Amino acid sequence: MNDRLETPRKVYVTRKIEFNAAHRLFNPELSEEDNLSIYGKCSNRYGHGHNYLIEITLSGTVDRVTGYLFDLKVLKTLLEEEIVARFDHRHLNHDVTELANSVPTTEILAITIWDILESRLRTITNKEVSLHEVSIHETGKNSVRYLGE
Ligand code: NI
Repeated sequence: MNDRLETPRKVYVTRKIEFNAAHRLFNPELSEEDNLSIYGKCSNRYGHGHNYLIEITLSGTVDRVTGYLFDLKVLKTLLEEEIVARFDHRHLNHDVTELANSVPTTEILAITIWDILESRLRTITNKEVSLHEVSIHETGKNSVRYLGE
């Protein structure tokens, strides 16, 4: 079976997830004026919300037996448990332990999600599969990609 896998083939597999959350861009180490000048209306006192669209990409070689890189049913469950349950309908500044001492920019969120998934994946995958990229679309126009560097 799977004649085309006689030589190892590297592939990239992506799953999308979405969650809605509120945040406020505010660094308590800076003055109100400095926060306003850096973050503008994103620093408004009571926050605002986004519909975050996240793309998680795994990479590695295709399994000779299954023809999969990684079972997407397993990835779906893992992302619901680790990401959606943790972030959906939360206030990122107040409700998420992993962001407690951070300004919840899209950059910081991408790195945080990477760290959460990386440690979970390490417990269940073999060395052939690794986390390749976390991409977050905060709006239709703005997105951030993190590749673990
Ligand atoms: Ni925002």
